[in-house]
Formats: sequence, structure tokens, C-alpha cells
Amino acid sequence: MKFDTAAGTNPIDAERVVGQPLDRIDGRFKVTGTAPYAYEHHEVAPDTAYGYVVGASIAKGRIARIDDGAVRRAPGVLALVTHQNAGELGQGKRNYAKLLGGPEIQHYHQAVALVVARTFEEARAAANLLRIDYEKAEGKFDLEALAASAPPVEGSSGEGSQAPPVGEYGDFEAGYAASEVRLDQRYATPDESHSMMEPHASIARWDGDELTLWTSNQMIDWGVTDLAETLKIPKEKVRLVSPYIGGGFGGKLFLRADALLAALGAREAGRPVKVALQRPLIPNNTVHRPATIQRIRIGANKDGRIQAIAHDSASGNLPGGKPETAVAQTKALYAGANRMTAMRLAELDLPEGNAMRAPGEAPGLMALEIAMDEMAETLGLDPVEFRILNDTQEDPEKPGRRFSQRQLVQCLRQGAERFGWADRNKAPGAMSDGRWLVGHGMSVGYRDSPVMTSGARVRLGTDGVVTVETDMTDIGTGSFTIIAQTAAEMMGVPIDRVAVSLGDSAYPVSSGSGGQWGANSSTAGVYAACVKLREAVATKLGLNASDIRFEDGQVVSGDRRVPLADAAREGEIVAEDKIEFGDLDKQYAQSTFAGHFVELGVDRFTGEVRVRRMLAVCDAGRILNPKTARSQVIGAMVMGVGGALFEELAVDKRHGFFVNHDLATYEVAVHADIPHQEVVFLDDPDPLTSPMKAKGCGELGLCGVGAAIANAVYNATGVRVRSYPITPEKLI
Ligand code: MOS
Repeated sequence: MKFDTAAGTNPIDAERVVGQPLDRIDGRFKVTGTAPYAYEHHEVAPDTAYGYVVGASIAKGRIARIDDGAVRRAPGVLALVTHQNAGELGQGKRNYAKLLGGPEIQHYHQAVALVVARTFEEARAAANLLRIDYEKAEGKFDLEALAASAPPVEGSSGEGSQAPPVGEYGDFEAGYAASEVRLDQRYATPDESHSMMEPHASIARWDGDELTLWTSNQMIDWGVTDLAETLKIPKEKVRLVSPYIGGGFGGKLFLRADALLAALGAREAGRPVKVALQRPLIPNNTVHRPATIQRIRIGANKDGRIQAIAHDSASGNLPGGKPETAVAQTKALYAGANRMTAMRLAELDLPEGNAMRAPGEAPGLMALEIAMDEMAETLGLDPVEFRILNDTQEDPEKPGRRFSQRQLVQCLRQGAERFGWADRNKAPGAMSDGRWLVGHGMSVGYRDSPVMTSGARVRLGTDGVVTVETDMTDIGTGSFTIIAQTAAEMMGVPIDRVAVSLGDSAYPVSSGSGGQWGANSSTAGVYAACVKLREAVATKLGLNASDIRFEDGQVVSGDRRVPLADAAREGEIVAEDKIEFGDLDKQYAQSTFAGHFVELGVDRFTGEVRVRRMLAVCDAGRILNPKTARSQVIGAMVMGVGGALFEELAVDKRHGFFVNHDLATYEVAVHADIPHQEVVFLDDPDPLTSPMKAKGCGELGLCGVGAAIANAVYNATGVRVRSYPITPEKLI
């Protein structure tokens, strides 16, 4: 089905099931330990062996010699995989560094060997006996030293979602020079690690030349494609199964070493093999959010109207890698005739940088929204009013291209009202509560809401149960539940008459979970399949599909009511379809917006920051399930606290690795760091996004939070910190 923006109302608009705050279908399984994660499919085979991954102990260079004699003699060892016996491997499209290194080493902890043994303990003990001699080469690890001389990222005209978001519109330098009030500041964000609860893990089993992989992956079809290309086998020979996922945050968008090594290990050992990346390997072996050094210039007239805005950002990556697109949101967040965005990309020999929740926007807004706070102060304007004054309803770089829906002003007005913004501390350092300096800050959240082709199959069983099958994943977001709600709404049955099966490449290809496109796109795919099923049911019952309703388990046509299950009396009815959006993203900018408000205290003696309350008001289209959507946003706000105050991968610039590569030393926000959080959705269906009239909110919730905290810290203390995380030593 091609999405038609002029289609008007549809059965979802009834909102009998969609829009209800239902509990997550998978919630009980997850909290009772009965949802099988990738490493826990004990049914695969009783003799599943264990793999232990060995990571390179240099950042750049070559393996000179491998002495594996002791490993092969160690108790329980079944196989050893290195580049020497792995055969010729291809390269998937989506990882820059090889998932099995050697002889060349591209980054620290790049996988160089897998030891397979009967038990995990035997595999680990044997791995410690592996001797690898390296020839170490000089590497480049210091972004700060390389940023200024790094080559610029070439833009195109900015068309299409894949083009780097760089370019100039109007005349920035002239507009900036002519502005009455100017800001020119630098900001820095550190490397960050996804730190999801479930590590990357896979079990591989070969049946002849067919490979089945139970794994933890956000994008099933990408995983199948890249694994087939890496192993140089046909895609049809690979099946991925990933029904339950313990978090991803972008770290599981792409195939990682656990998956490839499990497949190679199982082939070598001649039996199924399971591999979980050991936690201390994850930050250096997998991917991270790259650090940025950003410069922002804003010029405005004294009335507060922005005349010129420029944002450039430097980041680094391995050869072939991409920049962190921290300037993306600056292209269309605020009005202003003269605009420039630019990026520089330094070649670094640190581990591969890649997508982490709201890639680009999250670190970009951490900088831009401090800059806006600084400008408001210089102009003597309320930071909320300054932003409202510079709102724009069309894309400022493509005049005439409108946002499908943009209610940022409403988010800010409602947020200010609910938060009590009028009663905030108005002068930096002027409000205290015992030893605590109290501050208030706000920021804007802005994140695109892309749409992706997404397919599904629905079955009406002889028992009247509706079953949905799609390779969509649920990374803890609520996909199971909103998909069930969609099918229930469309087929007019209660939610407990719907069964949802996800995360299996045997099912139709979906949008997958990434870029906050999953909720809107995957449910729209289920909608499309249900439209077909409704037609099939009508045909079976001899009714006209255009004037029947599906409600209360009945098919209703005029005075006639037929139980839905009757349609399947002679056998199950199956329908399959996908939703396609054509060039919708060219016609409209599809985006989500938020106003973030924060109150915090700063200990006047130690510099400790304690967040006291947080509010987000979100413009994210129709909210398919207020409970799961709120969970997404509060989770993202927690991540925002981490990003503002704690998270930083410390780079060892001599040896080229992230030093704090485990959960003991890489600090994330925990329960004790999080205060009362409030989330409000405008909940206004957007008919230009999909038949669901929904958008994403999982990444929106993170966008801007860090800056709201930074601005509140400034408001509390009068100390303006422009480099994250805002640790106590930066305040005292
Ligand atoms: Mo997201 S960083 O596309 O999982």
C-alpha cells in the first residue's frame, strides 16, 4: 500500500484500542526472566558450546605470530577461530572495521580470536593461553589535536536524507557581521558508550549449509544481508531470530563480532556455539557515539530575531567512517535568513564511531541549546520567549517546504505553564536552599521522524485469533504492544485475541527499530496488511468491503452482524502487505519537538549536581500507547542526565583505547540520580505521517535534555560549562 496523505479518516481514528495506555505484552516475561534473550535459547541444542572472544591488545598494527599450541591442548577446547582459519571473509555494508581482525589490526579490542570449549569457564581459561605477537604501528587518537586540520565533509545540495547536512544559505558572514548582538562559542561532547543491559550475544547453528542465528539485533534484514555478505553465502541460507532484546540504543543496529564469530565457531566446532561479548570488550570492540568539538555563531538584532546562524562540528572516525552529524538540527530549528552548517572529519584509529540514540541531534543540541541560552541572556530575553520569537513553520533552507506538523511553540508555552517557569530563579546564583544553589533551565528538543517501508503478514485463524508476523523488533520500546493494538483496532477484536510474533527473518521485512522510525512505520505496515485481511474477510462473507465495520469481534454490514471467526471457518485467511511512502519526506519535513524544563541543585562546596525535577512536553503526533511512549521519553531523559553529568569514554591518547570500558567505570545515571519526571504529550494526530498519524518519540526524549541541565547549572551557579560531562571539578 502506498500511503496517501489525502486518504482522510480510517479505522485507527476510532481509537478504541490504539491510544490506550496498555501494559506491555512482553513486560511480565521480561521482569520474570521468562523472555528468552539471545544467549538463553537453551532449546537450540543440548550440546551448545561456548565461545570466548579475544580482543586485540593494540590499536593499530599487525599480528606477527600466533602461538595457539597451549590453547589447543587445554581441557574442553573444541575449536579456535582466527584469521588464519576463518577462510576468506567479505565485508558487510554497515561496519567500517572488520569484525574479525588480522593480520591487520584496525582498532583496540578488535576481535582476533574465538576460543570454543564445552563450558564458558574452559573457553575463558583456554583464551588466556593464547599468545599473539603484534607489530605495533603509530596511530592517531587525539581529536582535539587533529580537528582544525581535518578535511571538511563535502555536502551535496542537502537533498535526500543520506546527504551530509552541510551547506550555506544566504550570506552567513555578511549577515553575522551586520548583526547587533553576536555569539561565537566552542562546545565539546565526549565519546559515549551505549551501555545497554543485554550484551551483544548470539547462538549459531548450522544445518548443512543453512545458518540460523539467535541474536540481539535491532534491524533483522540488515543483519541477514551483512552476515550473508561477510560469510559469502546466499542471503536465503541465513535466518536471524531476535524476538526479545535487552536494549540497543543504536549499538545493535548492525552486525557485530558476536554474530560472525558464533557462525564461524559453530562451523569450526561442528556444533552450535554461543557467544556473548564480554562486558569489558564492548566499548572498544563495538561502536560508540563519537566525540565532537563544535563552534556555534549566532547573530541577532536587539529585538531578538536571529539574522545569521552557523554551526560547525569536528569529529573523528576510522578510515571510511562517517562524521557525527551534530549540525543536522541547526538547519531547520530556528528562523534566520543567513545560515551555514559545516563538518570536519578527522581520521582516528580509535574504535568505530556509529549511531547512538539520536545520532547527531543529541550532541548537536547539547551545544546549540546552550548557545541559545547564552544568546537569550545577552539579549536580555526570557530563553523561552527567545525561542518562540525565532520559531519557523517552514524549512528555512527550502522555502515552501513545510513541516507536516510543528507545535514547538505549544510545547514551550504548555511546559512553561506546567513547570512554573515564571517563578524560576532569574539571576544566576541568586536562589539557595541550605547548602544547595538552586537553578532552572530549559531547552528545545528536535528530532526528525523518518518513515520507512515496512511489511507484515496477518492471519485470521479458525479460532478467530488474529496473528501478526513481521521481522520488526522490540528493543524494550513496546513494539509488541502497539502492533497488537493496531491489529486489534483494525480487526475489531479485543487485544487478547491478537498474537504478535516479531524479530524473525522468516517474516516480512519491516522498518526495524532505529532512528525513531519504528513505531510509526511498523504499525503502518500492520495497518496495510490488515486492510488486505479485511478485504479478504469481506469477500469470504460475501460482503462489500467498503461499507462494513469490524467491531466487538463481529463484521457489521447494515443490520447484519457476522462473527469474525466465521470468515475463517473453512480455514485460516492470510494477508500480507507493506506500507510505502514514496517521496513523502521531500514534500514535508517530518519532525518531532519538545520543550524540556529542569530544576536542580548544585552543592556550593563540592560542586555535586542533583537534578530535582524534569518536565518534557512533546509534539510527537498521535500517541499509540501513552504508557509505552512515556517510558521511552523518561528513559531518554535518564540518558540525558547521564550525558549531561556523567558519561564519558576516557581516551588513552598514547595507546588508543577507551580506558573505562566496563559498567563499573563508565558512569551512567542510576535510580538515585533521577528525580520526579513528568512527560506530557500534545497527542495530536498528524495526518501527513502515515495511516497511523503517529511519529517517533524514543530519540526525541533525549534531544536537548543535556543542555537544559547545563543551562540550569549555569542558572544555579553562574558558571557556564561548555564541555560535557559537567563534572564537579568544572564548577569549583
Ligand atoms: Mo538508533 S541510534 O537508530 O537505534
